[in-house]
Amino acid sequence: MSRFSRCPMALGLCLSLCIGPRTAQAEEAVEPVRQQLLNDLVANGRPGAAFKHAFEAGDALTEFNFAAEQGVGANIGEGRRFTRFPRADLKGPGEWARHFPEREGGANATRCISCHSSPIANGAGGVAMNVVLDPNHTGDPKLYLERNTTPLFALGIPQRLAEEMTLELYRQRDDARFAACEAGASTVKLTAKGVSFGTLSVTRTTATPCVVDIETSGLTGIDADLVVRPFGWKGNHATLRSFTRAAAHNELGLQGTELVGGADGDFDGVTAELSVGDMTALTIYMAALERPVRMTELHDLGLLTLPETQARAIAAGEDRFAAIGCASCHTPQMTLNDPVFREPSLVPGYFDARFPDGSDPTGHGLRRDTPVSFDMRVDQPNNLVMLDTGKAYHLGALEVDSEGCGVAHWFTDFKRHDMGAALSDPSDPMGIGAAMFLTRSLAGVGSTGPWLHDGRATTLNEAILAHGGEAAQTRDGYVALPDEARAELVAFLENLIIYQADATH
Ligand code: HEC
Ligand code: HEC
Repeated sequence: MSRFSRCPMALGLCLSLCIGPRTAQAEEAVEPVRQQLLNDLVANGRPGAAFKHAFEAGDALTEFNFAAEQGVGANIGEGRRFTRFPRADLKGPGEWARHFPEREGGANATRCISCHSSPIANGAGGVAMNVVLDPNHTGDPKLYLERNTTPLFALGIPQRLAEEMTLELYRQRDDARFAACEAGASTVKLTAKGVSFGTLSVTRTTATPCVVDIETSGLTGIDADLVVRPFGWKGNHATLRSFTRAAAHNELGLQGTELVGGADGDFDGVTAELSVGDMTALTIYMAALERPVRMTELHDLGLLTLPETQARAIAAGEDRFAAIGCASCHTPQMTLNDPVFREPSLVPGYFDARFPDGSDPTGHGLRRDTPVSFDMRVDQPNNLVMLDTGKAYHLGALEVDSEGCGVAHWFTDFKRHDMGAALSDPSDPMGIGAAMFLTRSLAGVGSTGPWLHDGRATTLNEAILAHGGEAAQTRDGYVALPDEARAELVAFLENLIIYQADATH
């Protein structure tokens, strides 16, 4: 990819990736990010500086090879610091089963990008990086969950889309409540960004003051609180921050202060392993990473030459994708009304009213009136490419439509679906439903194999064939296609790639 270069340093937009991945040494100290500093920068009219600081620090943190003295790993028991397999059997004082919050798995790595590594740093992971979980501490391997590593690119996009969908759903619930107060009862069909989430039935139980009963059993693919949870294979986390807190604890054995306060949750002798500012930095970094792209897009920009036959197959595959029903779950396109990502978010359900340790986030400087923020249409530091025409093009940013609105090609409806018995988890410790999975985003899917929640699919064709349950009919439609048409559909998926302008892959 020598036909273009990343943004010139002089623009001041090119952050640490221009310098190249840092090979962090264990002894190299990582200074905790101070949330109060980020807060002060925003409060003093320097939001860009706060964003830049958070992004760079998040970059360093995801790459950093933590050492024991910094608290990586955990007191597993048997003298061990790491384990690939949950050890609910180790129940002695301070051992695996005694850690708090309760471990789901691990600790099993010393850096985030040990797993998030394929095809490039911050990407997905091979099956060797699968994570094994036992959230209910059964100690029974037959019940363990297995999870394949997902990519971390542009995760501000799914969070913002989820936030806007939830706001739409809140509004519909409020309207239904109002209508029930007026008329006694009201049923509303919930939809957000064109996606249907079933029905809510509201019944008035007391007239003055109006008290209502809300019946949520008609909801589909979403929790009763109407919070769209866009992260995790199960769709069990609403925010990057909450996922990151859990990942740091379970995978790396690093308990953030916001998780456990000053306590030593994994009995490794180290406390305050990640600061509130560190969590903000990690969140901002993953939110602002470059978005996955399409090969056809690179072709149009002159960054790649796509053979004519392949371009035709991709276009035909896109039509098939819609025609046989893939697009009914893997929604190809959604528009964002407000493309500004904020940490903390302003949307109820997407910020911590209290941290898990019980403390007030504002006491740590994490305030909703001074969030670290960036405009997803322009501010991402990576993949600002120079075209042959001499023009700079911001490939890393969110695409926009003719009105300047952010347009996301995330290929999910952000709903959970029953995927059938064959794909089902062996147990349901989270109470979500063993066969229920969030429609997996297909952004970058051409670069992220192996596929599916446990990495069982070694090809995209296998991934499609494994669809069952609510997707069974669509899968049958795929099976019924002639060979050539199936190949076109796969070509369409292979068009969706992860791309770093100065990396070759
Ligand atoms: C041992 C491997 C491993 C390590 C280390 C690891 N992750 Fe992950 N990561 C995973 C797996 C597996 C998943 C999918 C988990 C799931 O859905 O339950 C995941 C998912 C995620 C997601 C959700 C993405 C999405 O779109 O749903 C985020 C965010 C994330 N990781 C951040 C991090 C951060 C930050 C670190 C370092 C603090 C980290 N991970 C370390 C394996 C790892
Ligand atoms: C009923 C909703 C639904 C329909 C219809 C559907 N999918 Fe999926 N898809 C999902 C869910 C949920 C997952 C995650 C399942 C899992 O990992 O167990 C998924 C996963 C995938 C994956 C793997 C993604 C990854 O990163 O591992 C691919 C590829 C995929 N779907 C393609 C398709 C194609 C092509 C079609 C049409 C033939 C289709 N899907 C139809 C819901 C659906």
